[in-house]
Amino acid sequence: MAEHPAYPVGLRLSGRRVVVLGGGQVAQRRLPALIAAGADIVLVSPEATPSVEAMADAGEITWERRPYADGDLAAAWYALIATSDPEANTAASAEAERHRVWCVRSDDADLATAWTPATGHSEGVTIAVLTTEAKGRDPRHTAAIRDAVVEGLRDGTLVAPHHRTRTPGVALVGGGPGDPDLITVRGRRLLAEADVVIADRLGPRDLLAELPPHVEVIDAAKIPYGRYMAQEAINNALIEHAKQGKSVVRLKGGDPFVFGRGMEEVQALAEVGIPCTVVPGISSSISVPGAAGIPVTHRGVAHEFTVVSGHVAPDDERSLVDWPSLAKLTGTLVILMGVDKIGKIAETLVAHGRSPETPVALVQEGTTAAQRRVDATLATVAETVRAEDVKPPAVIVIGEVVNVGPEPAA
Ligand SMILES: C[S@@+](CC[C@H](N)C(=O)[O-])C[C@H]1O[C@@H](n2cnc3c(N)ncnc32)[C@H](O)[C@@H]1O
Repeated sequence: MAEHPAYPVGLRLSGRRVVVLGGGQVAQRRLPALIAAGADIVLVSPEATPSVEAMADAGEITWERRPYADGDLAAAWYALIATSDPEANTAASAEAERHRVWCVRSDDADLATAWTPATGHSEGVTIAVLTTEAKGRDPRHTAAIRDAVVEGLRDGTLVAPHHRTRTPGVALVGGGPGDPDLITVRGRRLLAEADVVIADRLGPRDLLAELPPHVEVIDAAKIPYGRYMAQEAINNALIEHAKQGKSVVRLKGGDPFVFGRGMEEVQALAEVGIPCTVVPGISSSISVPGAAGIPVTHRGVAHEFTVVSGHVAPDDERSLVDWPSLAKLTGTLVILMGVDKIGKIAETLVAHGRSPETPVALVQEGTTAAQRRVDATLATVAETVRAEDVKPPAVIVIGEVVNVGPEPAA
């Protein structure tokens, strides 16, 4: 076949018969995309891998358990030839040619009439990468180009603004605990596409520095609130900017719904009919202990972990926390916003039955360059916080999990 470049095209296979010959690894890799395309797939093969068999069991493909026979491709729109028998592959290829059925061959790209591109998806777009000539085929290179494009679009390092589909509104994005690498790929992409970003102090501040100059970055803590409550002023700012037709990202630390007042913002936007999407984030309650070598659960040690806000003391009438019940639990307690009140909290837990020897770790500014971990027990934590000058933001972990990790390297 002459070395002309392949002509790229997107086959719309929904409801159309596609014949797959051979049920091995190649079929296993290719079938999911054919299934996703809605093709009417007939697999002809005496054997199949367990995954391919599962697709047949699930009714996603029809499996004829026999070798290829002449005539199998007659009614096909498209064929994948991937048996382990070179003679069968050659015969099937010849049949495909006779019936003008485009076919890919796993054993010899040169003899195929179609090639499968390396594909990936990003926000309603399929990225397909083909090598130009059969001779120069380098599947790893095409896959690497595909990965670079898809990853770049996902993490926002490759910016391709949506001109038609981008709708104004607000995205409530959980930014993770602080390390800029710990935001989700969706969050990062929305950030890259934003016109306005309203950010909290906690969270991946470093990402803000990467935003293009036209993006307006507003520090939520600095919005003047006059006669409003601070939260109301933030809600109003979100509404105001979205009403101007802008794409607004509300960037929050951790996850928006873990002590993040995220739902208040969702409700305020819903009341005025502004569309809002919520992008979950990695909460500091799990990730910050993890970054300091503390698993919140561990086999044989803790079968539960409870995340509690410590922003009001246990004896404060505004407290909604049942501290006596928490003292009776044997698992892990994770306390956010608790540095100021840890003395009272530890006292209450001990008074209601938790051992004063229970290990405690405070992890300050977790996942950032300033991360530090300070260890204590319930008996000593109040004094340790004073002596070591532990400051918010810190996650406090109480329980035996504090001691299960290896000793940190000296
Ligand atoms: C208002 S809460 C918000 C929590 C956030 N929505 C989340 O899911 O992580 C703030 C508290 O989270 C904790 N926190 C958040 N980021 C932290 C970090 N990088 N290091 C230590 N604690 C952190 C601290 O306890 C802080 O006082």
